[in-house]
Amino acid sequence: MTQLTEENLHWKARARAVAEEVVRPLSKKYDEAQEYPWEIKEAIQEAGLFSVWIPEKYGGAGKNDWNLRNLCVVVEELSRACGGVGVLFAVNSLGSFPILVGGTEEQKQRYLPQIAAGEKLIAFCLSEKNAGSDAQGLRLRGVADGDDWRIHGEKKWTTNGGAADLYTVFAVTDPDSKSRRISAFIVEKEDPGFSIGKVEDKMGIRCVPVVEAVFDGVKVGTDRLLGGRAGYGFRHAMGTLDLARPGVAAQAMGLAQGALELATRYTMKREQFGKPVSAFQMVQQILANMSMKTEAARQLIYAAAAAVDHQDHESINKLSAIAKCFSTDVAMEVTTDAVQLFGGYGYMKDYPIEKYMRDAKITQIYEGTNQIQRIVIARNLLKEAAEYEFLDPYIPTEVQDVYEG
Ligand code: CAA
Repeated sequence: MTQLTEENLHWKARARAVAEEVVRPLSKKYDEAQEYPWEIKEAIQEAGLFSVWIPEKYGGAGKNDWNLRNLCVVVEELSRACGGVGVLFAVNSLGSFPILVGGTEEQKQRYLPQIAAGEKLIAFCLSEKNAGSDAQGLRLRGVADGDDWRIHGEKKWTTNGGAADLYTVFAVTDPDSKSRRISAFIVEKEDPGFSIGKVEDKMGIRCVPVVEAVFDGVKVGTDRLLGGRAGYGFRHAMGTLDLARPGVAAQAMGLAQGALELATRYTMKREQFGKPVSAFQMVQQILANMSMKTEAARQLIYAAAAAVDHQDHESINKLSAIAKCFSTDVAMEVTTDAVQLFGGYGYMKDYPIEKYMRDAKITQIYEGTNQIQRIVIARNLLKEAAEYEFLDPYIPTEVQDVYEG
């Protein structure tokens, strides 16, 4: 807890109240219906939670320029009750981070207050059919048309699509350039030529829509080109993911925490061989392991989010990937163990626990698969180790000979 401020704790308590009073009782209904839970969105909005990561100067409640711990504690609490609601909320930070990272002052003033008030929902359109992990491989085009731009193509796996009013869209604007190939645009749902294609039928996070977004010659002015200049889109996308990955980690850790609590309580009620199964040490060992992993994930997430809040640029990229990768792997393990502790009942939809396992799976995949996170972590390690000349005397000379040819 020490990594959290009074402000963070205030929002954490507020999010817990919404989660327990509104989210948990409705979670099963919207999972079954696979429908956007507008009544939950309104409760989140009324509690002011959409404002927590946005600085006060742009209409938010964040006391600082960066308020990622505020975001993470809210995502954690909502996800503890429902992983779908956790991402339904967090995806608005993913959509709005490009504006915070790279938007012009005018774009920030225009869009961020509406997002902070919960009046506008936003989605992030990066992935395409053939561009998932290889985010630079996208094909959707942004073509100059006089002073305007025309956007043509399709995006895949757009979370919040259809519900959202705004879309940050990454497009190829200079196909021949190596490092300035991609630009970002802000598209509004009323823009002619924009539509929603296939709506996916999902394993988990079923209350939040994941869709194909279609751009059929959508015309936008330069005022919608992020930062007012072309060619910086990939950097803005990567910078955004550094900020957003602790939020996915918090979603995963919230799921792990929620599953752990349900499973612990269940083992105290379930009797076998004449006593509660919680009395058996083999069960206690599973619970203890679940708790150790969840707590370790929590501390990592708060550390990664604090690195953002303090703008510790040396650490953000690596810590954010570590927090995402570790916490989402933990969520998969812990929710699977929770199902195990529920035994046969755990596999049945009458009980709340199988949903935690279904909701957890996507966290290992989206916002960069955990294989990509490991690449990001390893790249950081190799870059850091390039500075470790002081270790060379300790490397066996045979290895050094190979290096020196
Ligand atoms: N911040 C800022 N700039 C960065 C950066 C960062 N963290 N990482 C890279 N860049 C810049 C580099 O400096 C480089 O700039 P120059 O060309 O000017 O030198 C440029 O970006 C290219 O960098 P790389 O050569 O490292 O790029 P790469 O092609 O090797 O890709 C990657 C790196 C890490 C694999 C990246 O493609 C990646 O993160 N892939 C995963 C994509 C992803 O997470 N997709 C999820 C989509 S969102 C989602 O899931 C939505 C949802 O619904 C919830």
